[in-house]
Amino acid sequence: MLTFVWAEDDAHQIGYQGKLPWQLPADLRHFKQVTWGHPMVMGRRTFTSLPGLLPGRPHIVLTRDPAFGRDEASQQLTVVHSLVQLEELIASYGGKTVCVIGGATVFEQFKGQVDCLEKTEVSGVFQADTIMPELSYDQFELVHSEAHQADASNHYDYTFKTFMRKRG
Ligand SMILES: NC(=O)c1ccc[n+]([C@@H]2O[C@H](COP(=O)([O-])OP(=O)(O)OC[C@H]3O[C@@H](n4cnc5c(N)ncnc54)[C@H](OP(=O)(O)O)[C@@H]3O)[C@@H](O)[C@H]2O)c1
Repeated sequence: MLTFVWAEDDAHQIGYQGKLPWQLPADLRHFKQVTWGHPMVMGRRTFTSLPGLLPGRPHIVLTRDPAFGRDEASQQLTVVHSLVQLEELIASYGGKTVCVIGGATVFEQFKGQVDCLEKTEVSGVFQADTIMPELSYDQFELVHSEAHQADASNHYDYTFKTFMRKRG
């Protein structure tokens, strides 16, 4: 099962200068909970934005750079150089949950086949340069929604939503 995991603002924006446009610790905890134990697929720019390899989850990084990752040998990191190679790897998981965690270029290439959406809606419009590709929400059913108010650590309202692709 392919799951998208991401956070976007009211204008569907997801990134700014290689980072997230906001600081929202509660969403980072949610991200950890949703992705824990599952392989995470990401583009090279998203990988570069991480503080390092995140524990408890295999990282699969998509890049056209043949030299990328050569110095970073780790059982936790797999580098793939084409969509075909990536799709073969995903198929090798035999239907187990694989999380696609961005960025926009990778979401764009998988939006036709994604089964589950784990979306965080962050209230507000932030300075940003990366936008989430348009998804066909009419093909999905909202199965869970959990709204949270801003607090001392999380300065914006936010809502966790789970959508499943409609079948049949
Ligand atoms: N809000 C969120 O939930 C969220 C989630 C993820 C990312 N983000 C943000 O989004 C931004 C990054 O997103 P992005 O769209 O700019 O970049 P990205 O999708 O993370 O990475 C793009 C790179 O992936 C590689 N790539 C993509 N498709 C490929 C293919 N078919 N074959 C081989 N390589 C391929 C290329 O790497 P090479 O250039 O190395 O060849 C490409 O430059 C950052 O600001 C990040 O913080 C936000």
